[in-house]
Amino acid sequence: MKLKINLLLTFLLCAIMLVLNVDALGQAGVQKKDFGKTPEGQNVEIYTLTNSRGAEAKITNYGGIVTSLKVPDRTGHLSDVVLGFDNLDAYLKGHPYFGAIIGRYGNRIAKGRFSLNGAEYKLAVNNGANHLHGGIKGFDKVVWNAGPLKVANGVALVLTYQSKDGEEGYPGNLSVKVTYTLTNRNELKIEYSATTDKDTVINLTHHSYFNLAGQGEGDILKHSLFLNANRFTPTDEGSIPTGELRSVRKTPFDFLQATEIGARINQPDQQLQFGKGYDHNFVLNGKMGTMRLGARVYEAGTGRVMEVWTTEPGMQFYTGNFLDGTLTGIDGKVYQQRYGFCLETQHYPDSPNQPKFPSTVLRKVGRYHTVTVYKFSVRR
Ligand code: BGC
Repeated sequence: MKLKINLLLTFLLCAIMLVLNVDALGQAGVQKKDFGKTPEGQNVEIYTLTNSRGAEAKITNYGGIVTSLKVPDRTGHLSDVVLGFDNLDAYLKGHPYFGAIIGRYGNRIAKGRFSLNGAEYKLAVNNGANHLHGGIKGFDKVVWNAGPLKVANGVALVLTYQSKDGEEGYPGNLSVKVTYTLTNRNELKIEYSATTDKDTVINLTHHSYFNLAGQGEGDILKHSLFLNANRFTPTDEGSIPTGELRSVRKTPFDFLQATEIGARINQPDQQLQFGKGYDHNFVLNGKMGTMRLGARVYEAGTGRVMEVWTTEPGMQFYTGNFLDGTLTGIDGKVYQQRYGFCLETQHYPDSPNQPKFPSTVLRKVGRYHTVTVYKFSVRR
């Protein structure tokens, strides 16, 4: 009888903990704090998402930026594995898209021009002659509406933004929603959706710079990378795709067998010279629209593994080539060249001008919806 009562009490306690989404340590949940004001006087907040295993993501509604992401190593020790700052001013001063939501169009559009339904659109030009990552004031620099969302398997934050017709030159009033979920399996899941009142183009992505040894803990050249891509999109000198889908075979772009990022990065290869290292879009194997493994990265020192799963057709692999030690991040860590890598799930660059690439047009009647998951684990 006593045993039965004990069992019943334990069951009830577990049920309550599940409903309240509280773990044994009592920390899981979402906490909101002030993060300052933009120069225009908009209030900015920062949300701390803690899952049932103690992993933690800090996300601000300024640019939807993940400012810190703490996951365990093989001994259980938590480290922050993304480059970032602990104050809004540092983000306002300028940075190369650390941890941000990128839109309306992640990556480049040649000369900032494209045609749709017979009309030519001129976008803001902010990367030499080209348009990059949504323009001068892209989604990484706007204040989003934000609020926690109850989910069964972790902790979540929903961000929404209404982008006006003509913003940075794009047609259509666009309603965007991005949901970040830190699951209880140590996954950072990002779900993007959008609708428009006029045909437009869209290509949203996320721009965290990862270092699985911990942010500021040296370069990422010894991380081992598997990329599930038989082909990539070579570019011209300005990083605009030539239109070719080139085989990775017998090139430094072949990561079909896990290889150290730095093993071939300095080879005299024209594409590597154009990118000053890796800064290229890979054509992911498998069917776009279905969730599949895009990449797996392993850092031997800590045992951390990160897998990237996505519904997107492509992924930009960027090795932090333009970091140069001028930015100091959290805990006074100085970010030198190649101290972080990005795996930006996306459509191919310049798709609006490349009829053979999968389309990035969002119709007035359509709904944009993509999912990407960064899954963290350890190898012992
Ligand atoms: C681009 C790089 C760029 C970096 C930061 C990446 O997504 O491909 O060329 O330098 O973002 O701006």
